[in-house]
Amino acid sequence: MRVLVLHSHPVEESYGRALYRTTCNALETAGHQVDGCDLYAEGFNPVMSAEERRIYHDYPENTLPVQDHVARLKAAEALVIVTPIWNFGFPAMLKGYFDRVWLPGVSFALEDGRLTPTLSHIRKLAAVFTYGSTPLRAFLAGDPPKKIVKRVLRAQIRLGAPVTFLAHYDMNNCTEETRQAFLDKVQRKMDRF
Ligand SMILES: Cc1cc2nc3c(=O)[nH]c(=O)nc-3n(C[C@H](O)[C@H](O)[C@H](O)COP(=O)(O)O)c2cc1C
Repeated sequence: MRVLVLHSHPVEESYGRALYRTTCNALETAGHQVDGCDLYAEGFNPVMSAEERRIYHDYPENTLPVQDHVARLKAAEALVIVTPIWNFGFPAMLKGYFDRVWLPGVSFALEDGRLTPTLSHIRKLAAVFTYGSTPLRAFLAGDPPKKIVKRVLRAQIRLGAPVTFLAHYDMNNCTEETRQAFLDKVQRKMDRF
């Protein structure tokens, strides 16, 4: 499958980047065609301009500022998101990617006020997240990133597509063992993606 792997971590030597590399390598070894999109490394601009907001609903003109990313998203048959969780959401870099690239006409159609998902070419979705907080604290906060994956993004891709949610919670108390165990788990899941 053609797998778009979205990644958002500013630090080259971070655990998050190690998770991204493990994900891409395992998918490639399993025979998938991987499009690794490391947003920081690519210098993605996550800020929507005033002009982009004005033409937000005007497909296909709205896609012109992010044509390349729209083409990559449209070519994807599966999507994997590898990111740390910041303020119980995505880092601004990744949030801005969704704001600027997942546009009307690209990820959904809006006709007469009715919204229809349009990413039915994406037939698998996986998330690889790291949280500082414990699972309980994240649960009590409503765990918005998990809901974005399991409810929001799931609703935009092919109906019934499998969704894999992998998270290392409690990074504030992680050890070499917990980090390695999670890397191994990600590797195993991607081996069989
Ligand atoms: C700006 C910022 C905001 C954060 N906000 C949260 C948060 O709201 N909830 C949480 O569980 N962890 C939060 N964290 C902790 C990160 O999730 C944690 O540092 C990261 O997952 C560890 O992975 P890394 O070592 O690869 O960066 C935050 C960290 C940063 C830097």
